Amino acid sequence: MNFAKNAPKPAKLNPNMGLKDRNTFGFESQAEFAYEVTTPEQLPDLMKSIQDQGLAWRVLGGGSNVILPADLPGATLLMNIAGQAILSSDDKNTLISVGAGVNWHELVTWTLEQNLPGLENLALIPGTVGAAPIQNIGAYGVEIGEYIDSIEAFDTAAHAFVTLPRDACQFAYRDSYFKQHPHQMIVTKVVFKIPKEWTPRLQYADLAKQFSQSPTTPTAEEIYIAVCKIRTHKLPDPKVIGNAGSFFQNPIVPNSQYDTLIQQFPQMVSYPDVPGKHKLAAGWLIDQCGFKGITMGPVGVYENQALVLVNHGSGTAKDILGLAKTIQDKVHQEFGVHLLIEPNIL
Ligand code: EPU
Repeated sequence: MNFAKNAPKPAKLNPNMGLKDRNTFGFESQAEFAYEVTTPEQLPDLMKSIQDQGLAWRVLGGGSNVILPADLPGATLLMNIAGQAILSSDDKNTLISVGAGVNWHELVTWTLEQNLPGLENLALIPGTVGAAPIQNIGAYGVEIGEYIDSIEAFDTAAHAFVTLPRDACQFAYRDSYFKQHPHQMIVTKVVFKIPKEWTPRLQYADLAKQFSQSPTTPTAEEIYIAVCKIRTHKLPDPKVIGNAGSFFQNPIVPNSQYDTLIQQFPQMVSYPDVPGKHKLAAGWLIDQCGFKGITMGPVGVYENQALVLVNHGSGTAKDILGLAKTIQDKVHQEFGVHLLIEPNIL
């Protein structure tokens, strides 16, 4: 019997590939071996070969949450698995299966076209579907973990495909099992569970303000449009000015530290988090230190949002990390709070 004709075409190899167009900071970076992964079935052979050779490796999605160095030795897997489909639908939920390489915002748009509201608060987040669960993307009061049914992945330690139910993914604020175990799973597909019952999620101040004068409850499409408008105003378009969205996480501190800080800085922006903890707006802390709109060589802090670091053109990973360190040191000195860098430093 000849199985060869069913075997997947191996992932296409591009040696010495420039990645400037594949990271939203627009950093010059050269991948020694870049592989275009278009189907999950390519992964067992590809990973075996990479691991047998002892090569360093990493997966690159939309490149919107990474800091790339000038040289990326070993194998870089360009995640291009496409496709989305409705798997099933009952009176409570619709399940949809989506390839890891699908553009996140295009998926959000598609779900609304299919009359499946729920993801509208997450419109216009850059990046791919496969990257979304890794940092549990969130915006305007919604985190994607809430809408995930399961994740299909290739387990590089066990050399087998696995399906992780939502509970195994350990979703938390900008965190997940995948982020905690960086070189174990390669996400190939995400199965979303979209409840049939829909209610608008407008608790986030910026969004609530948009509809405060509205006599009727907004539709999911109206929320989608409002989110796109807010994001376009606040966050720089990576096609125009290089950036990776929020550069730092909003720090979560114990209530004892919060109590001292709020006494000293009554204007400080914060939100109650899990019991016993408060989340502080890192953008406010950085802004208070006077960094908003500054430049340091070819990089700087965005003028409309201090949490976003930008590359004005010829910046490198070294430049951005230098600026980040200056900001971290000053924020620590002023507020005693350590800011954690959000994008992955490769
Ligand atoms: N603020 C300032 N000065 C600034 C920036 C912010 O005073 O320069 C204050 C704002 O006035 C506001 C508060 O800080 O009261 C929070 O700012 P914002 O509403 O812009 O949200 P954020 O906390 O800075 C987070 C996410 C964003 C997400 C928005 C909306 C993180 C690290 N970032 O930003 O996510 O879009 O909320 O939900 O949690 C991303 O992760 O890349 C990202 C853009």
